[in-house]
Amino acid sequence: MSTAVTRVLTGITTSGTPHLGNYAGAIRPAVEASAQPGVDAFFFLADFHALIKCADPAVVARSRMEIAATWLAAGLDTDRVTFYRQSDVPEIPELCWMLTCVTPKGLMNRAHAYKASVDANEARGTEPDDGVTMGLFSYPVLMAADILMFNAHRVPVGRDQIQHLEMARDIAQRFNHLYGRGHDVFVLPEVQIDEAVATLPGLDGRKMSKSYHNTIPLFEGGQKALKAAVAQIVTDSRLPGEPKDAEGSHLYTLYRAFSTQAQARTFKAELEAGLGWGEAKSALCDCIEAQIGPMRSHYADLMAHPDRIEEILQVGAQKARHLAVPFMERLREAVGLRQPAARTASKKVEKSARARLASFRDETGAFRQRLFSADGHELLLSEPFADPKQLNQLSRAVARMDLTMLKPDEQGRVSLAVDGQRWAYCSVESLSQVQQALAQI
Ligand code: TRP
Repeated sequence: MSTAVTRVLTGITTSGTPHLGNYAGAIRPAVEASAQPGVDAFFFLADFHALIKCADPAVVARSRMEIAATWLAAGLDTDRVTFYRQSDVPEIPELCWMLTCVTPKGLMNRAHAYKASVDANEARGTEPDDGVTMGLFSYPVLMAADILMFNAHRVPVGRDQIQHLEMARDIAQRFNHLYGRGHDVFVLPEVQIDEAVATLPGLDGRKMSKSYHNTIPLFEGGQKALKAAVAQIVTDSRLPGEPKDAEGSHLYTLYRAFSTQAQARTFKAELEAGLGWGEAKSALCDCIEAQIGPMRSHYADLMAHPDRIEEILQVGAQKARHLAVPFMERLREAVGLRQPAARTASKKVEKSARARLASFRDETGAFRQRLFSADGHELLLSEPFADPKQLNQLSRAVARMDLTMLKPDEQGRVSLAVDGQRWAYCSVESLSQVQQALAQI
């Protein structure tokens, strides 16, 4: 077994309604990637970010629901991934402040989003910073906090976010240098740009984007809205019977993003043989509907039960905070806001005052671990493993907090998994004690 878990994290700003382009370009590939072995995925609703773009509370509230329901309906397995709302994790804005204090202002002056606003003001002849809030100006720092809080290795984003990832690395490096005392506090995140992922054309053939008003709705408005939008896709004026240039038509590009390769080949041949655009549009609708139709009822059901969405987000927030709370304690110590817990005591006391893992062979000859609290109580017994090497790998992963906590089962037990493999169980009641102990190892 390998413990090379890759933590993949991405945020979705809750200021819009997901459209077909978001689905094919971000949601579908993210859901697929999160099901891969060795991936520990973190997806979150970036609602603090939404406040930068949108001052309408109703829009922010509605968008949060729509985005959460979309990801869930698209098949996100919330037992496996950590799916949470940014504002449920107060450690993120706390970290944001710590990072703000090490971020050079000059770095933020160079941010594209900020510079674009300044340029627009200059073109209009208004004050350079007209309409620029501190939220917009320092938004890359908040994004860095989102990423560094969970020590994400990889961050899948669109091209427009590459600069923000570079800034997150810069900020992490500065913090590591100032406070790391030889150990890196933060992992340096890598940007992940997926070239293979479909960028869908919109109704007019330009990239599908809310700002171009050329989107095709995903779930909202049902099949009717999908049909109405597809009817508006711009095509050339060739009549039924005239051969069409399939490769050059965005209708075909859209079709391919939802069909199998074989279906795409047939469709292309039909277009080249003179299929009318009207029939082609109806085939496109059927093809999209075959994939998203079954998800739509799940979406509608979730939208009708906001309490269910809320419940799922709360479980996610708990999982996220299991990592964020102890990490933030260490960060407060690192910057001098708190006294380092163990370092104040003498070496001997420190040793006995920390939680520890003990490995042993059980009566069947299998290798296991026990987790003891700082005061020596046994907190949990691991699953048996055949190979002692597995235990070493597990211990290292546990010490790095590379653990996934799964939702409680019927018996009220939470399972702790490393790289998709169950390491141990603990009861919900003892979870916080276990967590505390793990944070000390
Ligand atoms: N800024 C990102 C966007 O507009 C959303 C986002 C916020 C994000 N925090 C993040 C993406 C952290 C990746 C990681 O698309």
